[in-house]
Amino acid sequence: MQFSNIMSPRWAYLLISFLSVLHKDLAKLRCDGDSLIKKNGKLSKEDIDDLISIDNQSQIKMCLVVLGKNPLETGIAELLWRDLVKVYKPADDIPEDELQLLGWISAGIPAPDFMNLSLTDIDTIASFGKWRNYSREQLMSLKQAIEDQWSYKGPSDLSNYDLAALGQVLCAFNKSYIAAIKPMAYKAAAADISNLVNCPQEIVKEFALLATSRDAFGDPSGWTAIQIALIGCVIDGLDSVRDIQPDAFEGLSASNMQCLSNNVLQAMSIEQISHLSLSAVNALTYAQRSSLDREQIKAIQETANTLGAVLNDGRSTSRTTWSTMTLVTYLQLPTLIISSYCRL
Ligand SMILES: *[C@@H]1O[C@H](CO)[C@@H](O)[C@H](O)[C@H]1NC(C)=O
Ligand SMILES: *[C@@H]1O[C@H](CO)[C@@H](O)[C@H](O)[C@H]1NC(C)=O
Ligand SMILES: *[C@@H]1O[C@H](CO)[C@@H](O)[C@H](O)[C@H]1NC(C)=O
Ligand SMILES: *[C@@H]1O[C@H](CO)[C@@H](O)[C@H](O)[C@H]1NC(C)=O
Repeated sequence: MQFSNIMSPRWAYLLISFLSVLHKDLAKLRCDGDSLIKKNGKLSKEDIDDLISIDNQSQIKMCLVVLGKNPLETGIAELLWRDLVKVYKPADDIPEDELQLLGWISAGIPAPDFMNLSLTDIDTIASFGKWRNYSREQLMSLKQAIEDQWSYKGPSDLSNYDLAALGQVLCAFNKSYIAAIKPMAYKAAAADISNLVNCPQEIVKEFALLATSRDAFGDPSGWTAIQIALIGCVIDGLDSVRDIQPDAFEGLSASNMQCLSNNVLQAMSIEQISHLSLSAVNALTYAQRSSLDREQIKAIQETANTLGAVLNDGRSTSRTTWSTMTLVTYLQLPTLIISSYCRL
């Protein structure tokens, strides 16, 4: 029996149109459904078609929240940004409460567009400052827009709240700007500055100078583990990391390890290295490990062996007493440290 005999052209037509309707229906994502969330940021052009449009203006906020939550491909983020601009025509008119929801959609904002954005609310700046994956051009343009719209505030006027809000944008200012920040404002915002990524070295050096000021944390030789937890990546800007007491390194969190340059790692003493927590040691990248000398590698291996064994079989082996800080940092409780510090 041949195909043409069992299926008349009319039936074939109906079947095909039914399938295509079905297909369209399945492919259509909505911002209030599970399907978009399940995609986990892996979206195609068709997936995001029409999600953000004038017809669906009441849904835009929900769409932005859902779409901005996970890393997006730059191409997809660009399309989403273009759709959002289309709803409001000039980017200048996008409401700030929508800008605050962009998250990973920020990856798709062309650098010049930042100059159009309305940034009058500190919460808007805080939401942009929180995102970490800007290109240099985007960051420079965002910085310029903030400077223009907040021109009445110089660096010495910035409060700790301003610094915390600026976040990643601080890495786009020049070193004389950072040097003019008040050490006390830096100190109160230290935790927010401790995890900036890809900051130019000359900026990190200025922050380290602020950290060593008497109005901030003072001389590094007196820094405690809790202070190191707060200072984080800024220790990479110190002239002499060896001045820090070895046991203070118990406070350095795993997430801050990626900021340590090879120079700083190489300058650390064996004793300092052996006070790093197990999670910090585990967070070292291959390139970082490769930059260490033999004695330093021995020290981190010892940490891995001793602390790893204790955790694995619940019995203490050679190192019987753990300091509280080692436990706290191993258990990844920086928020606990920071919140108890802030309550002081
Ligand atoms: C957007 O609105 C149109 C027309 O009201 C509707 O057909 C479509 O399903 C909506 N899209 C989403 C993602 O909700
Ligand atoms: C930004 O502003 C400039 C000048 O006001 C305008 O020409 C441009 O179209 C705007 N860009 C967007 C994306 O709205
Ligand atoms: C963040 O940006 C860098 C380059 O600037 C890129 O290599 C990396 O893949 C980005 N991360 C994500 C999750 O997209
Ligand atoms: C540093 O930046 C400020 C404003 O951000 C600018 O006024 C100043 O001229 C710059 N200084 C140098 C040395 O580039």
